[in-house]
Amino acid sequence: MDSLDQVIADARAAFAAATQPAALENEKARFLGKTGSVTELLKGLGKLAPDERRAQGVRINAAKEAIEALLTERRRQLADAELDARLAQEAIDVTLPGRKRSAGGIHPVMRTWLRVEEIFASIGFDVADGPEIETDWHNFTALNNPENHPARSMQDTFYVDARDGEGKPLLLRTHTSPMQVRYARMHKPPIKVIAPGRTYRVDSDATHSPMFHQIEGLWIDENVSFADLKGVYTDFLHRFFETEDLQVRFRPSFFPFTEPSAEIDMMFTAGPNKGKWLEISGSGQVHPNVVRNFGLDPERYIGFAFGSGLERLTMLRYGVDDLRLFFDGDLRFLQQFN
Ligand code: PHE
Repeated sequence: MDSLDQVIADARAAFAAATQPAALENEKARFLGKTGSVTELLKGLGKLAPDERRAQGVRINAAKEAIEALLTERRRQLADAELDARLAQEAIDVTLPGRKRSAGGIHPVMRTWLRVEEIFASIGFDVADGPEIETDWHNFTALNNPENHPARSMQDTFYVDARDGEGKPLLLRTHTSPMQVRYARMHKPPIKVIAPGRTYRVDSDATHSPMFHQIEGLWIDENVSFADLKGVYTDFLHRFFETEDLQVRFRPSFFPFTEPSAEIDMMFTAGPNKGKWLEISGSGQVHPNVVRNFGLDPERYIGFAFGSGLERLTMLRYGVDDLRLFFDGDLRFLQQFN
């Protein structure tokens, strides 16, 4: 083999042996660099006789071009291989099932809220909604709960850094009862309404949350009695829990805005939670002073009110024993209701 052919053969073998771009460039230097073998051959041309120099120059340049072509080809191969490797590494398996966006669900307390609305609406109660930031008057005074009266401390209150028209601090309503006043002042009897919503108290443990939900009920007419309260509420419980296997009792209690007042307790008489009395609601005949604050004559109008905890109803219906689960946002808990 001619020595130039040998150089080309060497270059081809050296380039093929280089498996990394950097190694290939080193091999290139061995042939085409400043002291590379082809370069040295070109330098040697000067020593040749002129006609020989020309013929040899043409041959060396041809060899040089052949080696450059081999180099280019090998560079391309290595670049392709690198790209293939990266593609393989970063490959996306399009046959994997996609990650679905899971459907949202209704929070268990909201489920109770909707059920309670539906049941009371079906027996002719209107559904009303009102502000969570309340005036002192609606939350306390109008409900026969005068300033400085110790009964106010039954409800430890969050105050807002703002005042009403009379200069009294606004507050986060501690119960839904102010809705009795707001609604009754805007409607004519017969007044028959429920008002579900958020309420706030400075309180936090396994059975109390600083934010919780209540549902207020109010029925005012010329002859609505405590017996009506018993009938309506007991019927509500049967329908809410979808069972007749429960007992209801009205235990004497105190609220400034009702007289007489009662705690409503219930007990399942069958099922896993049977045999334990549980308090579920405050209630009573609306106090004459409150009826007066409705703008009505207490000699003529009378009726009942109740305020029930929606979390409590939810816990009883589903057997949840820690109220905080409702507010943790743990999907493992919440998904069980959907
Ligand atoms: N507002 C009372 C409370 O939050 C409950 C209640 C409402 C009691 C209506 C009687 C009548 O404790």
